[in-house]
Amino acid sequence: METHPRPLLSVDDLTIEIGGANVVDGISFTVAPGKVMALVGESGCGKSLTSYAMLGLLPPAARRSGGTIHLGDQELTALSERAFRKARGKDISIIFQEPSASLDPLTTVGAQIAAAYRTHHKVSRAEAYAKARQMLEDVGIPDPDRRLHQYPFELSGGMCQRIMISIALICSPRVLVADEPTTALDVTIQAQILDLMKKLVTERDTAIVIITHDMGVVADIADDVAVMYAGRIAEIAPVHALFEKPRHPYTALLLASVPKLSDAPKADLATIEGRVPTPNEFNAGCRFADRCPLATERCRAEQPPLFDCGGGHRSACWHIDRMAEIHGRAA
Ligand SMILES: Nc1ncnc2c1ncn2[C@@H]1O[C@H](COP(=O)(O)OP(=O)(O)OP(=O)(O)O)[C@@H](O)[C@H]1O
Ligand code: SF4
Ligand SMILES: [Mg+2]
Repeated sequence: METHPRPLLSVDDLTIEIGGANVVDGISFTVAPGKVMALVGESGCGKSLTSYAMLGLLPPAARRSGGTIHLGDQELTALSERAFRKARGKDISIIFQEPSASLDPLTTVGAQIAAAYRTHHKVSRAEAYAKARQMLEDVGIPDPDRRLHQYPFELSGGMCQRIMISIALICSPRVLVADEPTTALDVTIQAQILDLMKKLVTERDTAIVIITHDMGVVADIADDVAVMYAGRIAEIAPVHALFEKPRHPYTALLLASVPKLSDAPKADLATIEGRVPTPNEFNAGCRFADRCPLATERCRAEQPPLFDCGGGHRSACWHIDRMAEIHGRAA
């Protein structure tokens, strides 16, 4: 069996509360250097909040009510805001889901990228601009000399997304959190950005957490996948194991339209009947129970723990032994 190096990022029992409800409820996973973890799951399941917590950027309405996040031996969740500012960009970076909201409208994009570089490097303005120019080339922006001097409003959404990516990557962070990084981009640019991320992984041993709705992206870049449902991890596994033999009904239904890793097409996740419960509808047991064809009384009453299925594959389901019934339906 492949031995994994020591994790670089460790999320342990992370719980985030909004208005008294645990919208992220006891999430745990690790990412080793040079590995990519994909977080997938329907809208509202807590992917972005989990990623904000890693950067110390939870919105005011949300509060981490339990758990820890470590980067190596450093506990990120214990850092002061001042210490976090030093860590962001260099140790851990984020590509936000909404690029337009994250760029300063009054500053040229070149100045924004150069400033990100100078936060962590004592270099002249000219050197920082040269670095920013190189970064624009790396993310595939044509005519970088002109673009450096433009403002965000002068650029398209896809272009702004690549500026955000440049800011996130310019200091070669040890951990990169990418929240839907390629959703706004066309297919060619998307492939280019994924290649850039793969290069970081192989050349710099960066650990990546990628959030995506696109199972094709998961198949392309991830080593491991955590499937989230209503704030919890339903299933977590190496990517091949998850695609080939999902051990949770939710994952199996999600993947029903993407049967083979080899030809995983672009497939959106929200294809299951019913909807994710809102926090005030959470029951005491499995949060998928209202949509699950295998649900029993026990499912509604008792929360299933993550059972170890071997080979790094874990599933939070009371009825893993009945998965054949789901595979039969999905076939
Ligand atoms: N600032 C906020 N104030 C109140 N509720 C919030 C806030 N941010 C997130 N939530 C709620 O927390 C839950 C998780 O949200 P989150 O944004 O993490 O979901 P997500 O998995 O990233 O969804 P998507 O795929 O749509 O981006 C949702 O129920 C959402 O409505
Ligand atoms: S615990 Fe029960 S309701 Fe939840 S996924 Fe498993 S079978 Fe379905
Ligand atoms: Mg989100």
